[in-house]
Parts: sequence; structure tokens; C-alpha cells
Amino acid sequence: MSTPRFGQGVDIRRCHRQFAPLESVSLLDPLRDDIQVRTITEAEFPAWERAAALGFGEHTTETRQIQIRGTTEISRTIGAFHNDRIVGTTSAHTFQITVPGGAVPLAYVDWVSVLPTHRRRGILTRMTKHQLADFHERGEAIAGLTATESSIYERFGYGIASWAEHWKIRREHSEMTVAPKIEGHTRFVDPWEAREIWPEIYDSVSPSRLGMFDYTEQWWDAFASDPEHWREGGSKLFHVVFESSNGPEGMVSYRIRNRTEVIVILLLGATVEAEHMLWRHCFGVDLMDSLSASNRPTDDPLPWILAAPRRLERSVRDSLWIRLIDVTNALSSRSYSYDCRLVLRVRDRLCDWNDRRFDIDTSATGAVCKSTTRSPDIVLSVSDLASVYLGGTTLATLQRAGRIEERKTGSVRNFDRAFVTPQYPWTPEF
Ligand SMILES: CC(C)(COP(=O)(O)OP(=O)(O)OC[C@H]1O[C@@H](n2cnc3c(N)ncnc32)[C@H](O)[C@@H]1OP(=O)(O)O)[C@@H](O)C(=O)NCCC(=O)NCCS
Repeated sequence: MSTPRFGQGVDIRRCHRQFAPLESVSLLDPLRDDIQVRTITEAEFPAWERAAALGFGEHTTETRQIQIRGTTEISRTIGAFHNDRIVGTTSAHTFQITVPGGAVPLAYVDWVSVLPTHRRRGILTRMTKHQLADFHERGEAIAGLTATESSIYERFGYGIASWAEHWKIRREHSEMTVAPKIEGHTRFVDPWEAREIWPEIYDSVSPSRLGMFDYTEQWWDAFASDPEHWREGGSKLFHVVFESSNGPEGMVSYRIRNRTEVIVILLLGATVEAEHMLWRHCFGVDLMDSLSASNRPTDDPLPWILAAPRRLERSVRDSLWIRLIDVTNALSSRSYSYDCRLVLRVRDRLCDWNDRRFDIDTSATGAVCKSTTRSPDIVLSVSDLASVYLGGTTLATLQRAGRIEERKTGSVRNFDRAFVTPQYPWTPEF
């Protein structure tokens, strides 16, 4: 396991003293125009993190600040300041996301919060505009996030790029019909060994799985350190690896809650058989009543392996939201399953460089996408274009929902044939 490098050179106690307590911001303070939105400095990080925690209704600790600092890029970390106090926060992580035909950089938005004392006065709107302009200046094509509420982000041009399933099953209903054809064994590993094995397994899968990020060393450090604030009432993580004669082929990390429930946090195999063996392990933990797993891909084979699939309680919710920061760049950065040429009229209220007509010529190797004055075949919003970008839905569905306009008959069908993907996008998170 690598040496922690979190919060180097930051004296958290000194920084705490440097800022007046956030609670002293008066509810009656007029906001007027005195909100300043800007990138924070290193010294402001502790106050920024504390404001983010308060925004999410949590208290921070020194340990938590050090851990969060490890995955925070200060130059991408934004604060909204009111009378020199931080009242709004957001940041972004630099990831790559797997798209059809390769991977593209993705700015992953995190820690979006506004203090309860300052809500509904446009602070999120100001921070988001600032952030989108920053992404554009950096030449980034795509931003992404997961949302606490699904009604917030469409107004900023984000669209639901994938849905994910949440599962719950009682152990007595977890019989599996198919026996995996694989030789090997499962064994518990300590966090330091999990820290070594997880990235190996993850990186062997992520280049071929749409929607997966390339988590950095800092993120794996954070995961293995298993911070208290990620546990939500569950135990520390248990890590179990499945090994064949070829070495580690899959891994699961889970918690136990109330001594009765296995909560799967991350389960991933290089092969379907390895995943099957790991589910067998999870269902086989004695003394447990039930198992739950959140954020499973909607095309996961497990429901098809269970003897009584109806007993798996499944609920679906929006998972990854993406925002095409630069439509030309984003559309040119993926490959397509059908050759077609279309003119799209994209509507984008916030990023005027996207608010235009695009001539897109798709092929298996990519697309040529440029601005045009030709009449549009399809008219759609930038958020709807984001929703179809990874193949998570089709334009035909959005058309039936009354969200897009087909100006030339047949163009929606051609668009969908080009954008369709062999797999459903999935973004594992921890
Ligand atoms: C969500 C949050 C950041 C909004 O901040 P804010 O400064 O109040 O937002 P704004 O005033 O800029 O509102 C922008 C728009 O979003 C809407 N909106 C804001 N929060 C919303 C919510 N929780 N649900 C639905 N709509 C919301 C506003 O009504 C407003 O709509 P309008 O443009 O039609 O007027 C803030 O409420 C918060 O910190 N919540 C707790 C933490 C959280 O959920 N963060 C989001 C993580 S993804």
C-alpha cells in the first residue's frame, strides 16, 4: 500500500481558527450581490470541506478532512464566499470514462452543496456556471456526476446517461440454478492486500465496460482506508478475492449491518464465472438474513442465475448524469455502430458554443462533427444528447416522451442505429 500523501503541508487546526465559525453567518444577512465564486486556495481547504459537510448535514473531523483532501484537486475546487465565509462548495475530479471505441477525459463533479442558511438564492446556479466555463477553458469534452435529487441538474444541461439497480434478497431465496464452470477458491484479504488487488481487477475490466472510470491511486487509497463517513451504519469492509490458477479473477467488498444484512459495496470479476463465485460467497455468509447491493448494472446476469428471480427485489434509479461540455469534441471522441450523416440542432442555454446545428457523419472508427447552416434533421436539448451519448437510452424513447423533434422522417431510427451500444453503461462507485 502506498504512503498516504493526504493534506501535506496543511495545518488543519490553524486553518480552522483562521475562519470565523460558519454558524455565525446570520440568517438575516442580506445576500445582495456580495457572493464571490472562485477557486479556493490550499489554506482554505479545511473551511471548504467543513462547509461541504454542513451542506450535506454532517459534521467533519480531522481524519475525514485528511482523507477527503487526498482525492481533492485544489485547482478544480470552487467555493462560494459570503463575507469571506464559504457558503457553497463544488469540486471536480479528473477521470477518464470508457466510451464506445476508447476512453475520454471526464470532469467528475463532486461535493455540490450550499449551506442551509443560503439555499434557493441562486448560489448553486452561479457555481455551476463558473464550473462549466472552467471545464470549457480546460478543453474538456464531458462532465459527469451522480445526483442526490433527480430534479436539479437537467437545467444545467446534464442528462441521465445510465440507470442502475438496487437489490435486496432474503438469503433463503438466493439459490442459484447454474453451477459456474470454473476452478478456484475464495479467500479473505486484508485491506492492504485489497488495495493491491482491486486496481488490477478493476483495470482489467474498465477499458471494455462502457461508463467505467479510471480511478486514480488516491481513490484506491481512500477506498482501502475505508473511512468512517462512508460506512453509514455498516461494519468495516470485508474483502474477499476469487482466485483461479491464473491468479485473482474477481473481488467483492461488503459490509455487515446489524449482524443480519450483507451490503455489497463493490463486486467485480474479470469473468462472469468469477462474479458468480463471489455472489455464492455473499449468499453463503451464515447468520445473515438478507443481502443488498446498490448500483448494479441493469444488464447484470445475476437475476438470470437465480432459481427464483422474482424474489430479488429490484428498484431502478438514475445513476450517472453527463454533460456534453463541448458537443463537437464529445461526438468526435466515440465510435458508432452504423454509418450515417445527420444534422442535429442542439439547444444549450448555458454554453453558447454548443447552441447550434451540427453536421455529424458517423462510422465505426469515429465521427466527423462540425458546425453547419443546413436544415436540421433532429432538434434536441444538450441534456437529451447526453442521455443517448453512452447508449443508456434511445432517441426513439425520448421522442415518445415528447422531448425531441424529428424534422426528417427516418433520422431518429438512423441516429439510434449509430448510437446503439452492445452493453449498458455502468459506473461502479464506492
Ligand atoms: C441542491 C443545492 C446545492 C441547491 O443549492 P441552491 O443554491 O439552493 O440552488 P439554486 O438557488 O441555485 O437553485 C437552482 C435551481 O435548482 C432548484 N433546486 C435547488 N435545489 C433543489 C432540490 N434539492 N430539489 C429540486 N430542485 C432544486 C431551484 O428551485 C432552482 O430552480 P430554478 O432555476 O427553476 O429557480 C442545496 O440545496 C444543497 O446543498 N442541498 C444538500 C446537498 C445536496 O443535495 N447536494 C447536491 C449533490 S448532487
